[in-house]
Amino acid sequence: MSFFNQKYHSLIPYTPGEQVNEQQILKLNTNENPYDPPQAVLEAAKQAAMTLSRYSDPTCRMVRQPLAKQLGVKEEQIFIGNGSDDVLALLFQGFTEHGVAFPDISYGFYDVYRHFYQVPAKIVPLNAAFQIDLADYEGSSETVVIANPNAPTGLVISKERIIQFLSQNPHRLLIVDEAYADFGKESVVQEVAHYPNLIVVGTFSKARQLAGARLGYAIANEQIIQDMNRLKFSINPYSVNTMSLYCGAASLNSQDYVDECIEKIITTREYVCSALQQLSFEVLPSQANFIFATHPKITGQHLYQRLKQDNIYIRWFDQERIRNFIRISIGTQEEMVYFIEKIKEILQEENIHA
Ligand SMILES: Cc1ncc(COP(=O)(O)O)c(C=O)c1O
Repeated sequence: MSFFNQKYHSLIPYTPGEQVNEQQILKLNTNENPYDPPQAVLEAAKQAAMTLSRYSDPTCRMVRQPLAKQLGVKEEQIFIGNGSDDVLALLFQGFTEHGVAFPDISYGFYDVYRHFYQVPAKIVPLNAAFQIDLADYEGSSETVVIANPNAPTGLVISKERIIQFLSQNPHRLLIVDEAYADFGKESVVQEVAHYPNLIVVGTFSKARQLAGARLGYAIANEQIIQDMNRLKFSINPYSVNTMSLYCGAASLNSQDYVDECIEKIITTREYVCSALQQLSFEVLPSQANFIFATHPKITGQHLYQRLKQDNIYIRWFDQERIRNFIRISIGTQEEMVYFIEKIKEILQEENIHA
């Protein structure tokens, strides 16, 4: 006998990358930031702890205000959620009257949410070069959801192309998930002032060292933000906790440190790309804090399993079209030099020469 609602019996939840905490493990599997949060975040967490007898501020003003300033948008154009997963879930729940359209290869949660909220979905294949081609989304009315940079490919479509789509499809809602946009150059966040059909989703998990704090946001016109708040205040107004709000504000106040870490990650990403290419890997040109790569002579699954034996965790997706790829989050320079050494050892074991 089951007390669980029948409609959820066939629900297939998202499979997160393994969350391991042992010191000896090199964790390159969930696109976290390899650097510690700035000192100011640690101090803010301590300060926040002293206020925990009170509920958190449901308007999240402490983060909205500095975030508005940083992104050049109005406070009223910002919604804060418990990680961008929370934000995306609300969008799938409340802004998909005409269904959704998203790429066949993208962030796995899109497919989970559309099933969960029972939204009809059009799954649009990436083109042969693994790129999103917005022309493939023309001519229908679903809400379009894309990640830019896309995950797990790391590939981007240009800001100009997104703007063109928005202006040519004024009645079509476009959600651009910019979880990794800080590692590239194509953010359309400033376009919310011009396009009421645009929602940009962002997170403090990747560029801001706060994956565990769970802070995500949506930037859109005031009406959309009000509607999102209507949903949030109908479920859990306090979905974002006080510790996270204090930490988020401190992170925004430590922009130089955050930018420095982004620069280091980009430099290391370019090092890893060229080192792997020299070992005959094909590496997609990434604008994210991870890379997606494949080797002609060794399977993705073998690399994943073999690296795991050496306590290096990466991500492998048992999925059509990308089964032979591995996704590697970018760690510190030192970690990635070690990673490349291990890859060389594995290729040698297999008698593969570049
Ligand atoms: C494309 C994309 N969007 C959103 C998220 C969710 O991030 P968070 O819920 O930590 O903000 C992820 C996490 O890996 C992601 O890859």
